[in-house]
Amino acid sequence: MLRLNNVEVVYDRAILVLKGISLDVPEQRIITLLGSNGAGKSTTLKAISGLLKPERGEITRGSVEAGCSTT
Ligand SMILES: Nc1ncnc2c1ncn2[C@@H]1O[C@H](COP(=O)(O)OP(=O)(O)OP(=O)(O)O)[C@@H](O)[C@H]1O
Ligand SMILES: [Mg+2]
Repeated sequence: MLRLNNVEVVYDRAILVLKGISLDVPEQRIITLLGSNGAGKSTTLKAISGLLKPERGEITRGSVEAGCSTT
């Protein structure tokens, strides 16, 4: 299970890119992110994977919860 709850991401402490994205990915399901150039798809994936810091990005609100079940 993966859950994004109202996630906000800011680059360089100034550029607000994600303004509160929420999504749920249930166990063993696949979802697709659709959006125009610059909509924030890659930023969303970087927030999930913990790769914002090298790009001077930061989650400033909300939460990313990832859990895995053993069943
Ligand atoms: N390291 C960064 N520093 C500042 N702004 C950034 C940075 N990376 C992305 N942005 C800005 O954040 C916004 C979202 O970019 P992002 O790359 O997440 O979009 P995307 O949906 O993946 O776009 P594309 O379809 O072109 O891949 C854009 O306005 C982009 O210019
Ligand atoms: Mg991208």
